[in-house]
Amino acid sequence: MSVTGLTESVTLHNGVQMPKLGLGSSPHGGYEHDSVVYALTEVGYRHIDTAKRYMVEEEVRESIKASGLKREDLWVTSKLWPTGYGYEKTLRTFHGTLKRLGLEYLDLYLMHWPNVLKGDQKAVHLDTWRAMEEIYNKGLARAIGVSNFSVEHLENIIENANIKPMVNQIELHPYNNPKELVDFCRKAQIQLEAYCPLARAQMFDDPTLVKMAEKYKKTGAQILLRWSIQNGFVTVPKSVKKKRIFENSQIFDFSLSQEDMDVLNGLIIPSISPQP
Ligand SMILES: NC(=O)c1ccc[n+]([C@@H]2O[C@H](COP(=O)([O-])OP(=O)(O)OC[C@H]3O[C@@H](n4cnc5c(N)ncnc54)[C@H](OP(=O)(O)O)[C@@H]3O)[C@@H](O)[C@H]2O)c1
Repeated sequence: MSVTGLTESVTLHNGVQMPKLGLGSSPHGGYEHDSVVYALTEVGYRHIDTAKRYMVEEEVRESIKASGLKREDLWVTSKLWPTGYGYEKTLRTFHGTLKRLGLEYLDLYLMHWPNVLKGDQKAVHLDTWRAMEEIYNKGLARAIGVSNFSVEHLENIIENANIKPMVNQIELHPYNNPKELVDFCRKAQIQLEAYCPLARAQMFDDPTLVKMAEKYKKTGAQILLRWSIQNGFVTVPKSVKKKRIFENSQIFDFSLSQEDMDVLNGLIIPSISPQP
């Protein structure tokens, strides 16, 4: 049943190819081993997004093992929670993540949130980023990046560090589309990665989305994911249900018109509060 398009990738600024569609694994709604294995073996997902914070890295390891996929055929992202920030702690925490995932390297390692527990935020970010650079330079992560970073947070790193983040993973869908940040990342060649690309399933009744789904004979979820892809974002929807995991992969066989992209790009309803 494998789906074409699942191997489509974007090229990061260091030349590494990152699959456009990934499977989220945040704990909300649980972790279903069988569904993840199904995604990898039967649908053809090649990208899993996880984080230490989700407390499912060991489950992800078991799903990867059960898939029988070769390591080089899979993209695995994990993230460093702010409790692990600081040079030494970052290195220690990273190795814990590698161990739990049963991997020798990550494809992408992200600083999960800009918040810091104590000290000057800019200094803590730079100290942490130095360790991220070391991880990258040692070949233990093929790419490094950040998540939930604003323009100001990104500027601090760009102006003071040796390596520019390759990715910024942010909440990104037509109902949360921070244009200034999106433009900044595009200009700086920092790949945007959309989390909660389905707006946490809270907007499927929006009449604009319903109408568009009817027009393209697709579901609201597929319209939202197609919007992500056509904007050049990497996108990581999550479902624990096999039917929806498959549905979410069926987004490479149609295109939204420029007019419809413009409509979706103009939608802003700032009513959904962010969650980690
Ligand atoms: N970096 C960060 O700070 C951060 C923050 C949040 C999330 N993330 C990442 O982004 C991933 C996705 O975010 P998310 O899980 O919060 O939100 P999401 O992908 O926008 O939405 C997930 C919700 O949509 C439902 N759903 C999935 N496919 C559907 C479909 N085709 N039709 C109808 N409903 C559908 C799911 O329910 P069912 O499971 O019941 O199908 C679940 O309730 C996370 O898993 C995580 O990997 C990162």
